Amino acid sequence: MLITLKEALEYGESTTSGIAAVNTPTLEMLTAAIAVAEKHEVPLILQHAEVHEPVNTIENIGPAMLELAKRSSAPLVVHVDHGESVDYVRRGFEIGFNSAMIDGSRLPFEENLRVTKETVELAQNYGAGVEGELGVMPGREDGKDSDGGVGDESLYTDPELAAQFVAETGVTALACSFGTVHGLYKATPKLKYDLITTLRERTGVPIVMHGGSGLSNEEYRECIARGVQKINYYTYADKAALEAAKQLLVDEPDTYVYSPLTVPARKAVEENLDALVRVLYTRAN
Ligand code: 13P
Repeated sequence: MLITLKEALEYGESTTSGIAAVNTPTLEMLTAAIAVAEKHEVPLILQHAEVHEPVNTIENIGPAMLELAKRSSAPLVVHVDHGESVDYVRRGFEIGFNSAMIDGSRLPFEENLRVTKETVELAQNYGAGVEGELGVMPGREDGKDSDGGVGDESLYTDPELAAQFVAETGVTALACSFGTVHGLYKATPKLKYDLITTLRERTGVPIVMHGGSGLSNEEYRECIARGVQKINYYTYADKAALEAAKQLLVDEPDTYVYSPLTVPARKAVEENLDALVRVLYTRAN
């Protein structure tokens, strides 16, 4: 069933859980993510990022995300991740996505404010939630290596600006930079827990973690305790799929078509997400 971003975040807050927000550019990832949410009877956010367009366009994978979400027994949000323009977000809303992130984080502050406000206004026509971003998160959302930026505190979100940003835009949640990076970690992340606490207090909205792959169980739990309610996660699940597919080619070198690779790939994503959900949610089955 479909639920709103706000409802998912409220579940996170009331149960001290982090809602897994999983990028599902392929059918394997999509069906695996839904299966895990159903198994544990927890809300989950299905996402499509603009950077995944070469894998599947939002017009192709989006209707599948929406239809499977509506049919599912699990409470699910269908969310545009890292919309780089208001037009891209609109494409998602037209398909039926009920939540979106507008990523103006690399724009000057005033420009970020402007596009985010515009997105919030647009979202009202669709009854959708909006996530904004302030502060720069190193690395790419398509899982490519995160070169540099780890521990660079000049990139972290400024709490004063964050409070102003949320007050002026009216976003439902705010993606902040506090030490995580997108993609594979080349260096150990340095998480600033006190900054999360301050950001949560000053902004009054749930904080979103991007670059959710690759943290320890303790790091996830501490971030959630401090006010992170949405945890964006992609690289390690898709990496598990690749490793499983490669293993199949080693075990069965005579494989001569592509489709059989998707079977262990899907299973690997399911196992990876299952482990994640057990850590993030206090009421996972
Ligand atoms: P990872 O790929 O590092 O898990 O980050 C995902 C993400 O932040 C998507 O927005």
